[in-house]
Amino acid sequence: MRRASVLLRHDEVVGETDPRLFGAFVEHLGRCVYGGIFEPGHPTADGNGFRGDVLALVRELQPTVMRYPGGNFVSGYNWEDGVGPPTERPRRLDLAWASTETNRFGTNEFIDWCRLAGAEPMLAVNLGTRRGDAARNLLEYCNHPGGTAWSDLRRRHGWEQPHGVNLWCLGNEMDAPWQMETKTAQEYGRMAAEAAKLMKWTDPGLALVACGSSGHNMPWFGEWEATVLEHCFEHVDFISLHNYLNNYGRDTPAFLAAPDLMDSLIDEVVAIADAVAARKQSGKRIMLSFDEWNVWYRTRGQIDAVRPHPAWPVAPALLEEVYTMEDALAFAGAGISLLNHADRVKVACLAQLVNAIAPIMTQTGGPAWRQTIFHPFAQLSRFGRGRVLRAQVDSPTYAAVCHDPMFGVDLRFALPAVPYLKLAAVQDGGSLTLFALNRDLEQPMALEVSLEGLGSPVIAGAQQLCDPDLDAANTRDEPERVKPQPLRDVVMSAGRLRATLAPASWNMIRLSPPPERPPAT
Ligand code: AHR
Ligand code: AHR
Repeated sequence: MRRASVLLRHDEVVGETDPRLFGAFVEHLGRCVYGGIFEPGHPTADGNGFRGDVLALVRELQPTVMRYPGGNFVSGYNWEDGVGPPTERPRRLDLAWASTETNRFGTNEFIDWCRLAGAEPMLAVNLGTRRGDAARNLLEYCNHPGGTAWSDLRRRHGWEQPHGVNLWCLGNEMDAPWQMETKTAQEYGRMAAEAAKLMKWTDPGLALVACGSSGHNMPWFGEWEATVLEHCFEHVDFISLHNYLNNYGRDTPAFLAAPDLMDSLIDEVVAIADAVAARKQSGKRIMLSFDEWNVWYRTRGQIDAVRPHPAWPVAPALLEEVYTMEDALAFAGAGISLLNHADRVKVACLAQLVNAIAPIMTQTGGPAWRQTIFHPFAQLSRFGRGRVLRAQVDSPTYAAVCHDPMFGVDLRFALPAVPYLKLAAVQDGGSLTLFALNRDLEQPMALEVSLEGLGSPVIAGAQQLCDPDLDAANTRDEPERVKPQPLRDVVMSAGRLRATLAPASWNMIRLSPPPERPPAT
């Protein structure tokens, strides 16, 4: 049995979570839109073609913002193709995913779907094949009330009221060679600054996200962020980060350690953004938009494999990663990293939502189900909102070497002291929720949490996600194989919580104020 202890004090605080920390992502990619959120003719579809079974699961997942329409797709997207009478919309080759895009679903349908899902739309503009002019026209189409050609076109298309989209991405992964019309940091920084200027002149209240590097492992990471922010510091509010955890190395302890690299990635981008602010003698703080995060590796090479002989299918089954118990643990660890940086990470998007590297899977014409990663996300989104406490964790550690290959180079990141326990604590009013990952694959962990100045709460509920088979997954035929179970071995006494965490487990423990005693008569 390993032992770990944690000290939580009411006045040791990271920050408040922004509601936008619990977002997700819908890209025109594979069956994310078509056969995912949108499938006219499906038995559960409504009059708009929105799948009711998927919507029900999305509401359970509770993502707060929804990024759209890409991803790699947006860098070749002409938004005008996706508005107006559906039967008149053009079919186009999508070079990002070697598919045929029917444009049956576009911006207006997405906004309607977001309203039903209870999520705030986060739109990306195309700064690959297009630039500021197309971006400001899309913005005018979406947000201007009326009386101009673009806004009146929206009204004629049937959306009388402006969409009021506040959060916008200035392109996607513009450093990446797999992007349409990749740019250097200088080229992108200038273009993003000018696009941002036009957009904020059109609608001054916007929140804009500039592209950071598409990964920690890109050769220009750091340099890219600094150069881009030199150009667009005054015009933007966020810089983006993307990270996909992998287990290419078939080394589970290292895989579960990888979320700690996300902590460093965040710290590094904060440092770079603040260094640019210092050089500019500005008190402005650029916040972080971690707008793609997940586990993704098994299906990562898929598109590169089909590119030489594309068949241009409509909505092919692409990137349909089947998530295991082990993936859910690594994923949950990444969720803890985001919470513990709530002071600077103000937006985050699980990439993606349905079918393509997603918490929700569907069969076209058939059912929808929850993948393993669905569960930690739903718990974080539901109970992770509030004031994040700076947990002082005292845990035994292990050494790991994480692999993150890029461009044929097997990049390795050595982590000499990975705590077996990874934990976040979030206070919401009188309630306190602990999210705890036991990264020891063999031994249970005796966890002791001391609370200072946090009252004498009682246990309101405790759940664990674990399975002796780390390869266990949820499938169409066995959709409930991996799901949270009650965590029984947890007690609270004299300001101390004691729990036993199973090996390789994700745990959520909720505390609430003691029930009020009726006044003595
Ligand atoms: O989420 C899948 C892809 O990963 C996105 O389209 C792209 O932005 C990233 O490379
Ligand atoms: O991370 C992006 C993806 O990784 C690209 O879409 C693909 O070409 C690469 O393998």
